[in-house]
Amino acid sequence: MAEKTIGIIVGSLRKGSFSKKIANFLIGNAPEGCTLERIEIGDLALYNQDYDEGDSPASYAPFRNKVKSLDGVIFITPEYNRSVPGVLKNAIDVGSRPYGQNAWQGKPTLVISSSISNLSGFGANHHLRQSLVFLDMPVLQQPEVYLANVQNLFDDSGSLTNEDTANFLREVLDAYTKFVERY
Ligand SMILES: Cc1cc2nc3c(=O)[nH]c(=O)nc-3n(C[C@H](O)[C@H](O)[C@H](O)COP(=O)(O)O)c2cc1C
Repeated sequence: MAEKTIGIIVGSLRKGSFSKKIANFLIGNAPEGCTLERIEIGDLALYNQDYDEGDSPASYAPFRNKVKSLDGVIFITPEYNRSVPGVLKNAIDVGSRPYGQNAWQGKPTLVISSSISNLSGFGANHHLRQSLVFLDMPVLQQPEVYLANVQNLFDDSGSLTNEDTANFLREVLDAYTKFVERY
């Protein structure tokens, strides 16, 4: 297959974020022919619709152009108050506008959620999927990826040491890569 570039958007800005550790694992286990790279969202100013009619913050154009250049998008999100963190929703909104210039359109997508409880971010995962419908992003439906008790999966250096989860995530990447090839 032609080389594919997949962007990873992490819905946590926290230094020690488990979501970032999951992203690092995926980057280190990228299937052949696939480059995975983190796309930063922490410097995006809060979206304001007025920006669509005039000057917008300097961070917006490079972000939108980067998203447009991608062959696919992986969202890795924690759950905040049973939904997606505001920083992730802000990035989604920034990429979706101005109206008619949706940068996300048509990008094959993978959703991964996690939490430090048994809940595994199910609420965030499915709230995110609701936005992806309107953004016209085809989403890998199976396997679904909910990682519970994520704090137990890594060693002190941040490496994923739980073999079952590591094998599962490799299978997910394989399925997702095949999904991306269809678009
Ligand atoms: C504002 C806030 C709200 C949270 N709400 C939930 C929640 O609804 N469900 C849940 O399982 N964990 C919740 N948590 C705990 C997160 O699962 C935990 O902080 C996790 O480590 C965040 O992901 P990160 O490690 O990638 O930063 C919440 C944490 C914060 C800071």
